[in-house]
Amino acid sequence: MCQRILLFLFIFNMGWSQNTIPLIPQPQNIKINDGRFVLSHNTVIQATKNSFEAQYLQQIIQQQLDLELDILPSSKTLSTIKLIVHTPETLNKNSEGYTLHITKDQVVIEAYSSQGLFYGVQTLIQLFPIEKQAKVTLPCLTILDAPKYLWRGMHLDVARHFFPIQFIKKYIDYLAMYKMNTFHWHLTDDQGWRIEIKTHPKLAQIGAWRNGSMIGHYNEQKFDENRYGGFYTQEEIKEVIAYAAQSHITIVPEIEMPGHAQAALAAYPEYSCTGGPFEVAKQWGVLEDVFCAKEETFTFLEDILNEVIALFPSTYIHIGGDECPKTRWKKCPNCQAVIQREGLKDEHELQSYFIQRIEKFVNSKGRKIIGWDEILEGGLAPNATVMSWRGTEGGITAAKQKHFVVMTPGSHCYFDHYQGDQKNEPLAIGGYTTVEKVYSFNPTPTELSTDEAQYILGAQGNVWTEYMNSPKDVEYMIFPRIMALSEVLWGTSDSKKYSFFQDRMRKQFLLLEKKEINYSKAIFEVTGTANPSEKGILFALQSVSSFKGIRYTTDMTNPKWTSTAYTTPIQITQNQTVKAAYFEDGKPKSNVFEQSFHINKATGKKIALVNPPHQNYNTGGSFALVDGISGNRSKFGRDWLGFLGKEVNATIDFGKEEVIKEITVSVLESKGSWIYYPTQISLLGSTNGQDFVVIQHVSLNEMVAANGNVKVVFNPQKIQFIKIIATPVEKIAEGMPGAGSPAWLFIDEIGAQ
Ligand code: ACM
Ligand code: ZN
Repeated sequence: MCQRILLFLFIFNMGWSQNTIPLIPQPQNIKINDGRFVLSHNTVIQATKNSFEAQYLQQIIQQQLDLELDILPSSKTLSTIKLIVHTPETLNKNSEGYTLHITKDQVVIEAYSSQGLFYGVQTLIQLFPIEKQAKVTLPCLTILDAPKYLWRGMHLDVARHFFPIQFIKKYIDYLAMYKMNTFHWHLTDDQGWRIEIKTHPKLAQIGAWRNGSMIGHYNEQKFDENRYGGFYTQEEIKEVIAYAAQSHITIVPEIEMPGHAQAALAAYPEYSCTGGPFEVAKQWGVLEDVFCAKEETFTFLEDILNEVIALFPSTYIHIGGDECPKTRWKKCPNCQAVIQREGLKDEHELQSYFIQRIEKFVNSKGRKIIGWDEILEGGLAPNATVMSWRGTEGGITAAKQKHFVVMTPGSHCYFDHYQGDQKNEPLAIGGYTTVEKVYSFNPTPTELSTDEAQYILGAQGNVWTEYMNSPKDVEYMIFPRIMALSEVLWGTSDSKKYSFFQDRMRKQFLLLEKKEINYSKAIFEVTGTANPSEKGILFALQSVSSFKGIRYTTDMTNPKWTSTAYTTPIQITQNQTVKAAYFEDGKPKSNVFEQSFHINKATGKKIALVNPPHQNYNTGGSFALVDGISGNRSKFGRDWLGFLGKEVNATIDFGKEEVIKEITVSVLESKGSWIYYPTQISLLGSTNGQDFVVIQHVSLNEMVAANGNVKVVFNPQKIQFIKIIATPVEKIAEGMPGAGSPAWLFIDEIGAQ
């Protein structure tokens, strides 16, 4: 398979201007012409009999515009919407592409498949007014369009929280609105088994129900005792698959193995290493009890996969593969016997053996496996596709080995992360992934050659539902980030034109309101960026339309429409607090943003880092450590610099000798998010920038005692340079989230007095 290209696109590619027509995803080519087409009750939809696309269009026109149109095989009326499917002339014609021509007399959508036609219809629908109007007119235009990526996906975890099929169908509608084509249905996990399996009925009877759930954040370790659960019958699943197929959406089911298996083991403990008993997990995270690699387990899993394969027509079956602790395998005589028998080196190779066995079975049924990037460990199964979630590195490795890849890095594609300031957002697992960040995503890493890049099938947004109890919560977390991702995957995103995207996104908000879809308004919030300047710090403010509409104060009062209008970055020379809000038509559209500055001898001074922070947590670069802003402990993604597997080695130059008697530095710990305190912090001083003398070492115990706010007081010393070295945890312990991976080291504001 290789990326298909719609050849005819290039022929028309010149000289067409951008436009303000609010389409998402933005088409590849659009040309606005003079004139308008009038859509009225006299308009006829011309299409072949039983065309789903025609019926779909007819229904939307009825619901949204209150017009009843006929569908006819031919039309003599002047005003016609023609839906035409051509037989492909050559294989180069992208089966997902379409053309849309609107002239004064007719609307013509042409495509090489009903799927392409469906996307043309989606584009046409986005041109409709949101409220019904006495006279509906559409601009004359020509659109030539086709997607860049084959896998345009959204995932939904129904194990942590269960969502009935009515909502699953809505979710599929949301994908369809933005021309996505893959729904990854995460059906099993420790906290619930959600699919009826007729050969093993206890999976649903027992595995679908738990006797309590976590309340509050994982870090609080609090639980309720409410029985919670649910599962889909095979009949319901068939109904959802058929529903999705109409919108040209493939459902890829995920059956997790060998880890995240506790719900299955609660029903059938005989397929564990210890024999149990187990309960369906109440706790989120990574649990130790996993499928045993003995023969009987494979028979059991093959029975399950047989039923799954019979239900789901997708080429791909997702077999999980992530976060499988090896604790039980190490002690299990059955697993150790398999290691012996197969001549495997260790438990990592046993994981690889497990996946390869399953792959052989799935391949024997004419299907392919896809798994999370841990399936690379111990050797990749020969035909496996990799879903890269722990960054893009796993995807790069797989593509270089000529394996297909779907990109879902936590940095850009985890829609369970916060999308705005935590204090304004519903409780979430952590992170900070704004719409703008999603919009900046490039699924094809620049490290790959042109040939290797062909293996990137696309990307998907992942929606883990530990902190989403209801459909409204899920809507909030996917909207509007799904719009940004859809444009990335369609291949027409352009970070430099983010404000153009924002304009179109705001038009979509009106539609979401009409449809009563819950969405995040975080884009209206004010954010600030501190930059170095001669006189201290320059603090720039931003909101949705750059800075127009921002009002601010520096006297601790809340900003009003009549407060100072923000026009240019604010000069910060002393300890102070800036409060700001965004207004439209004199009314606030954002919460109050507040930023305090603490000026000290290190603020705004020259700082050098030996190792760069990880690209995902590098807002503001090294300057973030001396910008006068102390990292907010609840916002990992901002203010803080994140390092992965590398020590922090920072040197600050005061510019001249200063008498220093106190150094402060902050580090963060959030084990659920793989963030650990360093094992040690060393503080050094120097008069010449060459010869450094240790001032003090700070131990892990001291960091814990200080809650990460390290403060070292010493006899006053005349120095010009200070150096901070923080040593990271190299490998997260077994049994913890992220076990085996290097820990993140998050550091902020270095102060000197
Ligand atoms: C994952 O987020 N555990 C794939
Ligand atoms: Zn075992």
